[in-house]
Amino acid sequence: MELLRSFFMEDYLEGSRFTARYNLGESGGRPVTVGELLSGSGVSPERASDVFLSTLLRDSPNWGRADLRDLVAAMHPGATRENVLITTGTSEALFLLFRQLRPRKVALAWPAFQLLYELPMQQGAEVVKLPVRWDEQGRPSVDANEWLAHLARERPDVVILNTPHNPSGLVLDAGLLDAVAKWADAAGATVVGDEHYRFLSSEDAVLGATVYRPGTRSFVTGSFIKCLGCPGLRIGWCVGDTAMLARMQNEKNYTTHTVNPVTEWLSFEVLKDLNSPALRRAREDWLRNRRTLSAFLERSRTVYGVAPQGGLVTCLGVRDAMAPEVFASRMEALAKAGVFVLPLSAMEAGTPDGAHPLARGHGFRLGLGADPAHFAEALEVLERA
Ligand SMILES: Cc1ncc(COP(=O)(O)O)c(C=O)c1O
Repeated sequence: MELLRSFFMEDYLEGSRFTARYNLGESGGRPVTVGELLSGSGVSPERASDVFLSTLLRDSPNWGRADLRDLVAAMHPGATRENVLITTGTSEALFLLFRQLRPRKVALAWPAFQLLYELPMQQGAEVVKLPVRWDEQGRPSVDANEWLAHLARERPDVVILNTPHNPSGLVLDAGLLDAVAKWADAAGATVVGDEHYRFLSSEDAVLGATVYRPGTRSFVTGSFIKCLGCPGLRIGWCVGDTAMLARMQNEKNYTTHTVNPVTEWLSFEVLKDLNSPALRRAREDWLRNRRTLSAFLERSRTVYGVAPQGGLVTCLGVRDAMAPEVFASRMEALAKAGVFVLPLSAMEAGTPDGAHPLARGHGFRLGLGADPAHFAEALEVLERA
């Protein structure tokens, strides 16, 4: 049943991905072309053409290209190439990792990105929900003491820390990350950091903090593909203990096998300089859309909430829409106006007793990945609809 509902979410996204005039349902940046990505990474068209046309379409190394693994390791202090496995998107990293971890009980922020609980559930794991709460203004927060009490009581063997968090946009604070790490060390639990939006988690630094702590039972999964608007590249990684990565790689050998060499080349070019124009552009768009959304929310009479601290999504509440029929009719009006957002119900965001995560009822997840001018226009159309 859980699985069916989230298949519904992906179908829901696909249903409007290519047709909605204002697609604010997605969780990634506006799609870029191969040319934009390469020129923003300092690669001239001539060089791009030479490398592309001369790339051998052979198998890449099973662990991923060595120089690419070095770049990923450099983003995780204390890690070396041996601590990095290149995967087909963050999804595959999570898939392979959970299959090896075989968790009995998994604790994670709730609501959550589907894969993070469905993969463990498929293996029979119990899910411990660490609540994210939204107040009357639609501001999300977590209560660190409540989380720690929950962990002490439930004793999960795996704790997932998704930061920046999808769908709330929260960046978990250093104190909380530290306290959970200490608890996990003492309890012998594994910490999994999903850092899919790490490139968009700080106003000043390209890279936000990482959950990875060398020499402990901590693993991190991540990518740049949503942050930079190139999800079609399908690349990601897992960083952690080499022996565990070797077991994951063994399974990968018999499934997706390797990531294709063109994708690995493009990824190397993107990550070789974290101050590249491509990354700067993605971060500037993100900051601009956050400002646009904050200003919009201050004057909106129809929706409430806050811009995300990190990542490309946030949850907004719809005013005066407690009744499901009222909310449904508002969503219909939006769809008619060409605005596509993701209702929180499609994310299984409620609690089993039917309570809403937002203090004042129904809401939707809003993506901030659109081009800044288009985003501003979309918000005005949303308000009118
Ligand atoms: C928090 C989080 N983790 C993982 C993923 C999966 O990412 P990928 O497209 O790299 O497989 C997503 C996708 O949106 C995500 O939001």
